[in-house]
Amino acid sequence: MEGDGVASGGMCGIIGVTGVDEAFSFLVEGLRQLEYRGYDSAGVALVADGDLWLAREADGNHSVEELALLETGSRVVGSGVSGSRTGENSGASSGASSGAGDVSIPPPRHCEAGIGHTRWATHGRPTVENAHPHVDCSGRLALVHNGIIENHAELAARLDANGHEIASETDSEVLVHVIEEELRRSESLLEAVRRALEDVRGSFAIAVVSSAEPGVIVAARRVSPLIFGVDERSAVLASDIPALLGTTRNLFALEDDQIVELRPGVAHVSGLDGSKVDPVPLTITWDLDAARKDGFDDFMTKEIHEQPRAVAETLLDRHGPGGSLVLDELRLTREELRLVDKVFIVACGSSYHAALVAKYAIEHWTRVPVEVDIASEFRYRDPVLDQRTLAIGVSQSGETVDTLQAMREAKRWGARVIAVSNVVDSSMTREADGVLYTRAGPEICVASTKTYLAQVAALEVLALALAEFRQTLDHGVIERLVGNLNELPAAIEECIDREKEVFEVADRILGARDFFYLGRNVGYPAAMEGALKLKELSYLRAEAYAAGELKHGPIALIEPGTVVVGIATRNRLREKMLANVAEVRSRGATVVLVANDGERDVEDVADHVLWVPEVEPLLSPVVNAVPLQLFAYRMARELGYDVDRPRNLAKTVTVE
Ligand code: AGP
Repeated sequence: MEGDGVASGGMCGIIGVTGVDEAFSFLVEGLRQLEYRGYDSAGVALVADGDLWLAREADGNHSVEELALLETGSRVVGSGVSGSRTGENSGASSGASSGAGDVSIPPPRHCEAGIGHTRWATHGRPTVENAHPHVDCSGRLALVHNGIIENHAELAARLDANGHEIASETDSEVLVHVIEEELRRSESLLEAVRRALEDVRGSFAIAVVSSAEPGVIVAARRVSPLIFGVDERSAVLASDIPALLGTTRNLFALEDDQIVELRPGVAHVSGLDGSKVDPVPLTITWDLDAARKDGFDDFMTKEIHEQPRAVAETLLDRHGPGGSLVLDELRLTREELRLVDKVFIVACGSSYHAALVAKYAIEHWTRVPVEVDIASEFRYRDPVLDQRTLAIGVSQSGETVDTLQAMREAKRWGARVIAVSNVVDSSMTREADGVLYTRAGPEICVASTKTYLAQVAALEVLALALAEFRQTLDHGVIERLVGNLNELPAAIEECIDREKEVFEVADRILGARDFFYLGRNVGYPAAMEGALKLKELSYLRAEAYAAGELKHGPIALIEPGTVVVGIATRNRLREKMLANVAEVRSRGATVVLVANDGERDVEDVADHVLWVPEVEPLLSPVVNAVPLQLFAYRMARELGYDVDRPRNLAKTVTVE
């Protein structure tokens, strides 16, 4: 059930330069400026005296420094791909993939042009072969790409029929071979790239160099960002501003479906359709730190705004031909999955809350019993599992030691193990029998936002896949639910657009010290996630409770000044939820409700309402999380705290 190809993900970094002699040093420094985005491999390609020099490393976040060592030629020869010349006169094979014994050639001192890349693998292992730049069969072209080529499979089939050798498992590499083909009937690299992109669907920011056109870089953009700059003797390009801020502030942004030909001191921009374009200069007021946050005040805001795309990319390609659902790497047969008679999900923190949401979905759609455990508890409570148990480990980092050990424990009990993670090749994904990747890109803020939403979306896909394998849902229902999933990014965007209203509510609550978060059904884990956000960001006490449980004791704590945040979006328990809320309000609580647009009756029991678009109830935690993230964010900012690095917390807990 593997995906039919791998994408290079939306969080890669690109750099390019022409007209600078020491191009290699410039590229490495530019890649260093892009490291903050997170990456797992890196590479550069240089055009020098009619040849192409290529080096790629897949050594996690040390890859750029490994490349830098090439400059002094001090690297041990033969480890992976070393700096090597490609093209006719060197006789090297295309793709420059070389193994042990390859002569490591330091980068040429005088280059006409060069491009570089940092790759954050969204799925498909971070190997040297998958690292960019990718080279064509002739060894004359090199290409770097950020984005996802959605029709890469059909392009690859065409290339294969034409005898091209595709050395990697990425979607990006097909691009350089398509350009190679177009070059045979084009006057220039610019024309060949323009023609090649006519057949491409998906998102891209690409830069291409050719040893046959020294000094030229051709770049193009659709959805994925691309910035370029020109001064009297050189021209540069990058995925984002930080990589270029140290070079020039004379920068321009390439717009969608535009292409630029860079030469030393010259940039010629046009539409992919050949139309004339006068690029508008960027006004750079940002310093480097602001630029890394894309102009947002902090990474948390940036990552909240990335949520629609994080969920959209996590859902992309999940619905294969004939309506079958596609997971990333599933080394389990449908028969093994059909024999599963129990599911255990283990996780920590926000990932645990995503797991709780999945429990409702899996049980409702597959009728298989699901237990969800905090990983640190699961490991020591002598759980009951056997070879008919499916254990799912949910972890953004894929490294949380409690979850990793819990998965190992499950494996020891004979269970099949699936990992749901945001990091390709992380410990959990390497040890699992199956993997489902969230494709949220690197999350820098300690508080999980986009990765939590992507986890819930991924787990809902997994639940539907299990239902399909076990035939407990008919295809019509699955189709409808997949359609509902695909509506989530727009609903998330709508919630983000209401940020101002949420902030106004937070400002009026400021000063409160005691919070309850209440929910029923999937609203309960949604309440838990909302409470965790407030705790970890604003250091305020917040307790999440199943709303129906309050009257069994905790309601004694309710008094004037207590703030109760309730999830009151539509599901079959909504009326009971509103009755629970009325109970606490009658005892003096200040009530903030998350409710669906148009449900004006909630205003009878709430002091403040955070309105959200209505979505399928079992998917609603993905949307309901957003106002609660913004609420917690605003409280923390108003209290003067660092939302990206809260006190006492680490992004990944690799100790017990
Ligand atoms: C949530 O905002 C925190 N970042 C934390 O609870 C986190 O979810 C938990 O540590 C689990 O991390 P993981 O997903 O990388 O395993």
